[in-house]
Amino acid sequence: MGWVTIDKDKCSECGICALRCPFSFSKQDSVVTAHADENSCSLCGHCVSLCPEGAIVHHKMDMSNFVEIGDNATFETDAFIRFIRARRSHRHFKDKDIPREILEKLIDVCRYAPTGGNAQTVRAIVAQNPKKRQKLSDLTVDFFIQMGEGAEKTLEEMKGRETESIASLETMQILANYKNRLSMARAAGYDPVFYKAPAVVIFHSHSQTRTPKDDCVIASTTMSLTARTMGLEATYIGLFEMAAKMYQPVSEELKLPPGHEVYSVVIMGYPKLAYLRTVDRNPIKTRWE
Ligand SMILES: Cc1cc2nc3c(=O)[nH]c(=O)nc-3n(C[C@H](O)[C@H](O)[C@H](O)COP(=O)(O)O)c2cc1C
Repeated sequence: MGWVTIDKDKCSECGICALRCPFSFSKQDSVVTAHADENSCSLCGHCVSLCPEGAIVHHKMDMSNFVEIGDNATFETDAFIRFIRARRSHRHFKDKDIPREILEKLIDVCRYAPTGGNAQTVRAIVAQNPKKRQKLSDLTVDFFIQMGEGAEKTLEEMKGRETESIASLETMQILANYKNRLSMARAAGYDPVFYKAPAVVIFHSHSQTRTPKDDCVIASTTMSLTARTMGLEATYIGLFEMAAKMYQPVSEELKLPPGHEVYSVVIMGYPKLAYLRTVDRNPIKTRWE
């Protein structure tokens, strides 16, 4: 049996499947046939989703997870834009755990986010244990202290030389500043990486897929926005992403599957602060052609 079969009693031979996916379907002399296999089908499920008669069965996919969309899956545009504009990066959270079923729901929604070539290789680590979170935070600070010390040394060596580019000088200065800021914050008992958030969600993917970074960022954004509908707020943590990529003690702690890398990290929790106004941001410079 092929990957896809068409129930001929239901099929109206409309050919929408062949229009959408000429690789796995064909329509000739008003007869539609399916020939989906591993060479032609990316498991996108569009054929099943589009078929007006519900005549298509995909044998490699869970057919019970194709649910009627109905006509209420839209939002009032201005309300949706207000929702987007009201999102803020939160760094102060209530001392309140996020229930497991809520986290499961938030991880589950990520499976419906798009991935390049429908690769679906995004995975997540949810760190809720305060000791684990502290350890990952400490390792990240250690990493930036090391990087900062190296940068300070380089800046010293660069002094008086005109050969260095402004960009590399700036990078060194940023790293040196990070070192000072993070180490001072940690010494004061503050968590400058995860802000003691009740959940840290680490998105990783196999690096040898088409778009691993995009896939993970889209998943983490999907999760973060969904979380807002549940009274949770989230913040991207690029500092940890960098440490996870570049500092072996962090990658050892994460125990990622072979070939995987961290591409997006988000903290989440119930916010302590309520933002009362939207904030100003630069307009997107656009060239209309
Ligand atoms: C990719 C990315 C990485 C970020 N990394 C950090 C981080 O490591 N620590 C942090 O406190 N905020 C981090 N942020 C949050 C930004 O500082 C924040 O989005 C920006 O200041 C704008 O504020 P807003 O999100 O409230 O609009 C990150 C944001 C993005 C998009």
